[in-house]
Formats: sequence, structure tokens, C-alpha cells
Amino acid sequence: MEEGTKRNSRAWSEVYRTTAFGNAYPTDGLVSIYHHFIKKELKAAEEPPKVLDFACSHGANAKFFESLGFEVYGIDISKEAVDYCIQEQGFDSEKYMACDILSGERSLKEMFGTFDLVIASECLYYFSEKDLSRLLQEFNDSMKEGAIFYANMHTWNHQLYRSYEKAEKNAEGLTEIPESGTAGLPLGVRIVENKEEMKKLFGIFQEIATVRSVLELESESETLHFIGKKAEGF
Ligand SMILES: C[S@@+](CC[C@H](N)C(=O)[O-])C[C@H]1O[C@@H](n2cnc3c(N)ncnc32)[C@H](O)[C@@H]1O
Repeated sequence: MEEGTKRNSRAWSEVYRTTAFGNAYPTDGLVSIYHHFIKKELKAAEEPPKVLDFACSHGANAKFFESLGFEVYGIDISKEAVDYCIQEQGFDSEKYMACDILSGERSLKEMFGTFDLVIASECLYYFSEKDLSRLLQEFNDSMKEGAIFYANMHTWNHQLYRSYEKAEKNAEGLTEIPESGTAGLPLGVRIVENKEEMKKLFGIFQEIATVRSVLELESESETLHFIGKKAEGF
């Protein structure tokens, strides 16, 4: 991991160690995108579809997918977050792992096999440019042919980030935000300009849609959602 990503990961680990922070409810944008875009893209399989909830926090999104009949796997950098998933949510300890997937120790595929769906909700903006492309490659390598990928990013048209638009990015492509995100942490965050940048960022996948969700059209915070498919031959 590059220094900026490492710092963000450490800060998140510390939040779970020292506070009761955790996602209690599924992320609204993800639920909406699932029903409008993802559901119809998943091939009807005899087996329950297998989903990875990357950066799973306390497992609220994992629980959402479980309730839909998915076989759910989760990863988070925080041991406390993953312990919560196993001990409080009762999820299978074989399917949830606290780890740094960029450490190169074991690939996602070696850990969990291959997926029909990979979800990276509210987390990829904490990765430096280089680390994000490595991570996307890792996701891609763990996806079945035609599998679906989902991620979201924020734009400068967002109440938390708007006033930092002119701030200098560091060498890793991150902007220092003193109170970032739901936990209000000082972190380096990767903000996207627009849909074009978003599409380019996730260009390893074949785009299905890059959208704002209906709720966000009325809010002060612009979030872009990317839904893609594992491209043939990648
Ligand atoms: C804003 S929370 C989002 C949680 C959840 N995905 C959601 O949609 O509500 C960001 C999550 O990213 C996790 N995270 C940060 N760096 C990570 C890394 N390098 N690898 C895995 N998870 C990471 C944090 O521990 C935290 O649970």
C-alpha cells in the first residue's frame, strides 16, 4: 500500500478500535442501484449468487444481500469490524476476513474463490491512484465471466468536499479533508470530477451504467455509482 492509503486504513482501524462506529443499515444508494441496475444483470443461477462485500464494516450491506438469498463474503481492514460481523451478526467465520488485500500475501481468489458480484460501497475513495488500480485488478481476477462490479465515488458537488475543490492533491492523487465521511476523520480522499472520470477510473470493467441515484438528485451531496461487468478476455 502507498503511504496515503496506509494512513487512511490505519485511521479506519482506529475508529473501530475506539468507537462504536459501524454501518447499522444498508447503504441507501446501493439498495436503490441493486434494484434498478444490478438485479437484472445477474444471470439466473442454480446456485445462490456469490457476492463479495469489500469494506464490509459491521455487515449491514452483507445482511441485505443475505436476505436476498446471496452467499455473502466480506473483507474489511478492521479486525474489530470483521469480529462484529462474525460475533454479532452471526456470519460464517470462513467467509469474513480482516486483511489488507494489497499485501500480496493471498489473492482474493485464493481466499474465497470467484464471485458473481463484487460490491465496493463507500470505500474506494480512500485508495491512492496506484492502489486503486491494483485493487480493481484484484477484484477483476476474482470475478466469474460476466460477473458484476459496483462502486461509488463522490464528486466535488458534495457538502463535505465542495470547499476543498481548489486544494492541492498530494502525489498519490488524494486531497486532504479535515473531517471526511460519516466518521468525520481527517483523511486523504480521492474525489472525481464527473462521470467521464468515473468511467475512466473503472475502465477495466465494461460499463453498464454510471449514474446518480434518484434520492441524491434532490440532495446536496453528489455521489456517482458505477455498475460494470467483467469484460471478456480480461
Ligand atoms: C465509510 S465506511 C463504508 C462501509 C460500508 N461499505 C458501507 O457502505 O457503509 C469505509 C470502510 O472502509 C474500510 N476500509 C478502509 N480501508 C480499507 C482497506 N484498505 N481494505 C479494506 N477495507 C478498508 C473501513 O474499515 C470502513 O469499514
